[in-house]
Amino acid sequence: MSRVPRRRRGPGALPPGPRLPAWVQTLMWLLAPVKFGVSCMNRYGPLFTARILGFGDVVYVGTPEGIRRILKDEAANFDAAAANECIDFIVGGHSLLMSHGDEHARRRKVLMRPLHGGNVDDYVDVMVSIVEQEIRQWRAGSRVRLIDCFQRVTLEVMIRAVFGITDSARLARLRVLVPKLLDVNPLLILLPALRREFGGRGPWAAFQRMLREVDGIIFAEIRERRAAADPAADPAADPAASGSDVMSLLLAEGADGPGLTDQELRDHLVTLLAVGQETTATQLAWFFERVLRAPGALGQVADAVAREDRKYLDAAIHEAIRARPTTLDLGRRSVERWEADGYSFPPGTMFAVSLGLLHLSGDLHAEPEVYSVERFFPTEPPSAHFLPFGGGRHRCLGASLAMVEMRTVISTILRHVRLEPARSEPEGVAPKGPMLVPRRGAEVVVTRNELVRGAVPAAPGRG
Ligand code: HEM
Repeated sequence: MSRVPRRRRGPGALPPGPRLPAWVQTLMWLLAPVKFGVSCMNRYGPLFTARILGFGDVVYVGTPEGIRRILKDEAANFDAAAANECIDFIVGGHSLLMSHGDEHARRRKVLMRPLHGGNVDDYVDVMVSIVEQEIRQWRAGSRVRLIDCFQRVTLEVMIRAVFGITDSARLARLRVLVPKLLDVNPLLILLPALRREFGGRGPWAAFQRMLREVDGIIFAEIRERRAAADPAADPAADPAASGSDVMSLLLAEGADGPGLTDQELRDHLVTLLAVGQETTATQLAWFFERVLRAPGALGQVADAVAREDRKYLDAAIHEAIRARPTTLDLGRRSVERWEADGYSFPPGTMFAVSLGLLHLSGDLHAEPEVYSVERFFPTEPPSAHFLPFGGGRHRCLGASLAMVEMRTVISTILRHVRLEPARSEPEGVAPKGPMLVPRRGAEVVVTRNELVRGAVPAAPGRG
């Protein structure tokens, strides 16, 4: 797999990689992860070793074959939970992200049904009303940072469609608290030693206060829903009829048996929030950042929306995810010795399954830096060359919800609004927590908005 041939791969040898001190590599990885990964891949090939503080030696795997082996064929040998330990204080010990093997399979089954494609189609109407409410604020001629709008939209979808919360005081409080919760100080993630309260002060104490308040709201909601669905309290209560949101469906799942404890339910919901909200918002922002800069692309996507051509719209979304992935790598720790490309990796080796390198590889995708829907339309690339939602036993559980949400947001915007990029040059890639976001937040100028009564076009629209 690697491009720099090694004469001898003795016991314990790792694939080549940069020789810079670990702290320099960590800084490069934190500040410019795409540049760091792609330049290592170009120099050493798609199997290389980086040294990252907090993780040690990390072996990057960016070939279709290596990725397929880790995610699918030999998945039992790779523990994803061990790589997620650093966020256990957010998602909780019962989270899907904190489990491996049979335990993971059991927890995953519980979450699978509520997030199934058929169920999430029910959320389209609420999504449309949430997006329309957002774009009613966009006056013709105004500048808008799309990422901020999409953060609000995806949060609203989460707390209304996934959590099913309707109480206006709780909604208002979650709108303030959740963005702060997800914007956790990265030092708390990387350096567990900092997770200490200094007399009620410091980032850890502040984080704990916020977490307690969010949990308080979720637990209160769970208690009320249980009481409302309890036949002992109300003989007419029907748990299955309580709502089509994910929380209601999870509560209804346990109606005939022991069901989930409050803590388990809370951990599942916070996990969905942690992995599903910002990813979707960021990917939507990148979609517009890319499409608005590719000649003719916006017009073609708008035409596809007008003729309800879902295949073309999905191709345009997939190409945006390929060109600007929000998450580059999936962490895995090997359980047993693993052989690949002449190396023999001991148990406990940390791997970065690099979807980013797969999607940005010039060997697999011609001119990878160019946004081109034609890569996915009318013919899709081999599935092993494009894994937007990962694969195997940890494949994204929210993929259907994310696709429905992205289609709905994009179509609703393109039906009513015309946009231009605020500046013609592409936006850089900036790290924000585990996410890679457009540096200027996908800044656009609204040139026309049919949802704002009496709106006057500020300038001729390009779309
Ligand atoms: C564009 C948006 C999204 C992208 C690109 C994305 C991508 C991914 C990827 C690559 C994984 C695999 C992680 C691994 O193998 O370690 C994953 C896992 C997961 N995703 Fe998503 N995701 C998105 C949205 C969502 C949404 C909206 C939800 C739910 C509301 C969600 C829930 C999950 C869950 C629960 C897992 C863990 C699955 C497991 O470990 O079994 N995701 N996602």
